[in-house]
Amino acid sequence: MLAELACFEQHCRARFPIDEAIYNCPTCGTGLLEVVFTEERADAPAWKQLWRSRRTSNDTLEQSGVWRYRELLPFDGHHHQVVTLREGNTPMLDAPRAARYGGLDHLTFKHQGFNPTGSFKDNGMTCGVTQAVRLDRQRVACVSTGNTSASMAAYASAAGLDSIVFIPHGNISYGKLAQALEYGARTLQVEANFDQILALVRVLAERLGIYLLNSINPFRIEGQKAIIFEMLDQRDWNPPDWIVLPGGNLGNTSAFGKALRELCQFGFIRKLPRLAVIQAEGAAPFYEFMQKKGKFRSIPEPRTLATAIRIGDPVSWPKALHEITVTNGIVEKVSEQEIADAKAIIGQCGIGSEPASAATLAGIRKLTQAGVIQADQDVVAVLTGNVLKDPDYVYKYHTGQLQDPDGRAIDARLGNRPVVVPNDADAIAKILEG
Ligand code: F0G
Repeated sequence: MLAELACFEQHCRARFPIDEAIYNCPTCGTGLLEVVFTEERADAPAWKQLWRSRRTSNDTLEQSGVWRYRELLPFDGHHHQVVTLREGNTPMLDAPRAARYGGLDHLTFKHQGFNPTGSFKDNGMTCGVTQAVRLDRQRVACVSTGNTSASMAAYASAAGLDSIVFIPHGNISYGKLAQALEYGARTLQVEANFDQILALVRVLAERLGIYLLNSINPFRIEGQKAIIFEMLDQRDWNPPDWIVLPGGNLGNTSAFGKALRELCQFGFIRKLPRLAVIQAEGAAPFYEFMQKKGKFRSIPEPRTLATAIRIGDPVSWPKALHEITVTNGIVEKVSEQEIADAKAIIGQCGIGSEPASAATLAGIRKLTQAGVIQADQDVVAVLTGNVLKDPDYVYKYHTGQLQDPDGRAIDARLGNRPVVVPNDADAIAKILEG
């Protein structure tokens, strides 16, 4: 659809052309930007059919679980410039064991870890990098807790662009750092945390004319909407009662809420699912804000082993607040032990995820115990990253070596230790049968 950029702040709402490279509103100076469609009509029944029929096509655009839904994306006239690695197409997985653990009769995971670089960031990055191409930018950059950088590096290289990755030194998992290196990004490890580096990168992007691909970039948010489009397409457009997701910088929360609102506005669905956003206890500024409201207070030193969501000053909180309000959603926080145990349970379902993703199941367990989510409700949890993103965490947990950020041991309640055995059939048989 044809679209413009608009300031998200209700008192401003200034509009700008879709091809302006801006991240904050130039009129009020502070507002986040969002994409707004300038057309008001969509043919929901026809588009549902069209989108479904595209699944059988061998055409590049149709094979992407993002671009298949391009009628609800702001790239009309630019589809020839799309940069895609066939992102999306992620499965809905039933997980009875996880459902029981979470206090539910039934639970489905939508697993974004099946994406080309192993996380949901690919859904957004295909649009972000396509916008960079549309704007004729040669250099792109982001600060990241790891997944955004892995994704940006891959898509930038696929498009022949130069990418510069800024990461907090010593605080991202090797799986993710390895990806940025392998995909050819210039990788700068800064001795600061995510929030401090984001401020730095915004200055550098401005000064050096680099296109910024953090989730303040509204085109990233547009692409991540397709996670919801695809989820509802897979459910024959029956909305669940709840959609549960982890919250870090809160870009995904913003994207999910926007997608749901647009689907309602254009007549694809009648009911809005409730969003439940789960944060890690040591990095839960949004949770704290929702408890007390008042002024949003960032956390200067966020701490969690779920490094993907180790963020104390989430830029998208005003959008996330709006989406939680509109969907009658909720924000919960969970401990390191709860995340670790939930992650092991997801693994026992044959699914696997990275720690941040497992916050969803830990949150569901807490919310059912509190009576907020009912056992018989229809719940979809979004697993945001692949289990191999952070093998160090997995190994340490299962061998009882995992410690929380304060150095306290995480109890390996569901640990699965490897056993060293001699090269001797009798001895091994004895161990296996004993
Ligand atoms: N889960 C994973 C696996 C992530 O990598 C992130 C964010 C989140 C959840 C939180 O999503 O920020 O939209 O609320 N990772 C970013 C990064 C910050 O740099 O890769 P959010």
